[in-house]
Amino acid sequence: MFKQLNLDKESSQPLYMQLVDQIIRLIEESKIQKGFKLPPVRKLAEFLDVNTATVASAYRFLESNGYVYTRVGSGTYVADQSKKSREIIDKLKLLDQGQLVVTPGMINFASATPAPDLFPVEDFKNIINEVLDRDGGLAFSYQESKGFRPLRESISDFLKLYGIKTSPDDIQVISGGQQGIDILSKAMLRYGDCVFVESPTYNGAIAAFKSRGANIIGIPLRRDGIDLDVLQDRLRSKRPAFIYVMPGFQNPTGYCYSEENKIKLLELAKKYDTYILEDDYLNDLDYSDQGIRPIKSYDDGGYVIYLKSFSKIFMPGLRLAFLSLPQKLSGEVIAAKHITDISTAGLTQRAFDLFLRKGLWKKNLEYIKKIYRSQMMYVCEKLKLIKEIQFEKPRGGLYLWLQLPEGYSSVVFYSICLRNNLLIAPGSLFYPDYNDDTHFRLSFASLSREEINRGIDMLGESIKELTGESENKIMPLI
Ligand SMILES: Cc1ncc(COP(=O)(O)O)c(C=O)c1O
Repeated sequence: MFKQLNLDKESSQPLYMQLVDQIIRLIEESKIQKGFKLPPVRKLAEFLDVNTATVASAYRFLESNGYVYTRVGSGTYVADQSKKSREIIDKLKLLDQGQLVVTPGMINFASATPAPDLFPVEDFKNIINEVLDRDGGLAFSYQESKGFRPLRESISDFLKLYGIKTSPDDIQVISGGQQGIDILSKAMLRYGDCVFVESPTYNGAIAAFKSRGANIIGIPLRRDGIDLDVLQDRLRSKRPAFIYVMPGFQNPTGYCYSEENKIKLLELAKKYDTYILEDDYLNDLDYSDQGIRPIKSYDDGGYVIYLKSFSKIFMPGLRLAFLSLPQKLSGEVIAAKHITDISTAGLTQRAFDLFLRKGLWKKNLEYIKKIYRSQMMYVCEKLKLIKEIQFEKPRGGLYLWLQLPEGYSSVVFYSICLRNNLLIAPGSLFYPDYNDDTHFRLSFASLSREEINRGIDMLGESIKELTGESENKIMPLI
């Protein structure tokens, strides 16, 4: 094994990380296998002509990431790799499926759930009372599966603000954006069908498409939208059931499509006769006030399924969203909605209808935009102090897409952060097969200034651990 190790003292990569990389390569290429005993720290340090702390740090890093394990008094051994990758994937899946327990004191940079003190509780209380006085028990009966008719009318009016012309008959009320993706998958996908997605993309959508046995094909995402050349190339050989995109403050990158990209994407959908599923989960949070024009507003041929959720900009617990559908999909979608939960809660629909009609929607949006805008500025200023991280400030939204120094893995960084009581969303989460990535997503939606300060300090420390510059962590094992 010694002969295959060679450290470059002139390199800018820390020596211990070079050793980590080389040992991982030996493990991955099966040159050393499960149960293989690594050389004692002192012996390897002598051979490599480095400090024992360098080798000890490398072994410690490999151990904390599951590549090796230590037997006290005996030595360090290569671990069972299938178990190791399973452990990391299992940890990621817990995060992915919302099951990762956020322990007290943990700083949660992964969640984009708005802070509860931003919810318009007083206004909503008055509205609920008004609905109950007006409708009595009717507010608690089953609703039409398509949605409460007056709400569909007010949504159709509200959509005019976004340049979308749609009839109340083409609106489908749903219990949250995730349900929209799920019922569309039920209505439109058969086992083995193909769906095109941006790469990276929203993990909840990946899960819904996978649950229908769909074949998910990632199309690279550029700063100004989906890569149209690659898309066209793929469309020539495969016709997807739909192309799933988020043109405004894309999750996870925060990128926005240019108008040109949106128009060309729509032209391609027409040319290859497929649908675009446009997920507007955040368009309204535009701090530049330029506004995001939905692709749906350009669509005069029924190629765009428009999905709008109110979770991130209103109250996620209401579970309220809607679809504006091309007419010919309406029947299949109602059937899928009926199978799923018959109808969205009537009280919620009636209350939201009044909320829109009274214009309280706009007042609330202006309020949260002001708060989030200053929160975004604050986080970006603090992050600039961590020189190892690269990012661009988006013009809106709740996410920052941060890049680690080249060659470092977001999954390894995720496990270091987790140990330090910090939750981030590693880039791997946003690819169908958890491909590794050097990016991670950070959200500031639910954190106080004090938590942001503490969290960013911890983030800086975790980066130092990752890149081997931390003074605390370098402790010889022997
Ligand atoms: C892009 C995207 N679409 C849909 C959803 C689901 O939202 P909802 O809470 O309305 O189900 C989310 C939630 O994070 C999201 O990020």
